[in-house]
Amino acid sequence: MQTLGPCVLPQAATPEAYLAVAAAYEVDLTVVGPEAPLVSGVSDAFLSAGKKIVGPSQAAAQLEASKHFAKQVMIDAGIPTARYRATTSIEEARAALTHFEYPLVLKADGLAAGKGVIIVHTRAEAEQALNALGSLGPKILLEEFLVGEEASFIALCDGHRALPLEASQDHKTIFDGDTGPNTGGMGAYCDGRVLAPEQTRQVLAAVIQPTLDHMRRLGSPFTGFLYAGLMMTASGPKVLEFNVRLGDPETQSLLHRIRGGFAESLRAAAHGDLRGAAFDWNPNPSVCVVMAAAGYPDKPRTGDTIHGIAAAEQTGAVVFQAGTRLNGNTLQTAGGRVLGVTASGETLQAAIRNVYAAVGEIEFHGMQFRNDIGAKGLKRWSRIDTVGT
Ligand code: AMP
Ligand code: GLY
Repeated sequence: MQTLGPCVLPQAATPEAYLAVAAAYEVDLTVVGPEAPLVSGVSDAFLSAGKKIVGPSQAAAQLEASKHFAKQVMIDAGIPTARYRATTSIEEARAALTHFEYPLVLKADGLAAGKGVIIVHTRAEAEQALNALGSLGPKILLEEFLVGEEASFIALCDGHRALPLEASQDHKTIFDGDTGPNTGGMGAYCDGRVLAPEQTRQVLAAVIQPTLDHMRRLGSPFTGFLYAGLMMTASGPKVLEFNVRLGDPETQSLLHRIRGGFAESLRAAAHGDLRGAAFDWNPNPSVCVVMAAAGYPDKPRTGDTIHGIAAAEQTGAVVFQAGTRLNGNTLQTAGGRVLGVTASGETLQAAIRNVYAAVGEIEFHGMQFRNDIGAKGLKRWSRIDTVGT
């Protein structure tokens, strides 16, 4: 980001401090990235000061901040989701185990950076998971395990209307073949075929629009990016979770494909009127591979020197930096998910080849990345690809 423009740190991570930066730099449109500032009310502070911002109010951000709240909205608005039970203590959760079959999904109520969900296969695993989740807070959700293909569906919203982005697919677990513990996301691909046009219409009509309508009825109209994590089941799309922002790493693959209309659409959303707004999509599929630090997701190691970013970008890829810092002139790891290496290609297969060529140029001690980002798409569409070429 430092190569694109000045980077300014606010005095503190508070709505007032962000507002002070926006005032000092005469910022006329603010776009909020992560969930924490939204949940702490940054949009409310900006709107009261008459400043335009893309991101939901503190009240609307509860869709991500509380899984109990999100589930209640889904029930009240008739949005398809997994059968569940909300509990307020570990004991209550333990007692509720008997109402579910295995595999079973256990979720912490609050924000957990993608790490608050554990899928268990036996009673013993469930006991262990409840203890682990209990350390994140007493409220735990038990949820029916859904089977299907996952999709991340994100729409820019102006309180009334939604302008959908293309669907993408995240890879949540740390290891290849969807194994190991859940992370914030280890890679994503965006290909026009993740959802068929009919499925997109179905998600807009059954999930996104009813959510917007319901949030308006609650007096908390939703402005900003509404992200529905979906399971495309045999009986249609079901919502696994809502986020109130763009997804990471979905965004790296999505933005790689947007050729135009992005800034204009953000402005239109902030002005409360998305009518006429549109994104211009590059048809080429894109893939983002996350390179994570040793020890991620539990205890990421930091301070390792990163080599090869320039060489990776010379292949045509874009390397988004997340958990990095400059120590003098040396680029070092400084977080769990360190880099998001992103590339596109004329086919998904070419995009995968291109992204892994770039990944191959990068090196840091203990780096972890998945070797199979996009492989599920390839498998789904290989027949179609062969017919088409
Ligand atoms: P969440 O943070 O709620 O999206 O959950 C993280 C990941 O756990 C999802 O992307 C799914 O891979 C998995 N997951 C969550 N809920 C369910 C469910 N009800 N059935 C199957 N898998 C689930
Ligand atoms: N990749 C999922 C998320 O951003 O929460």
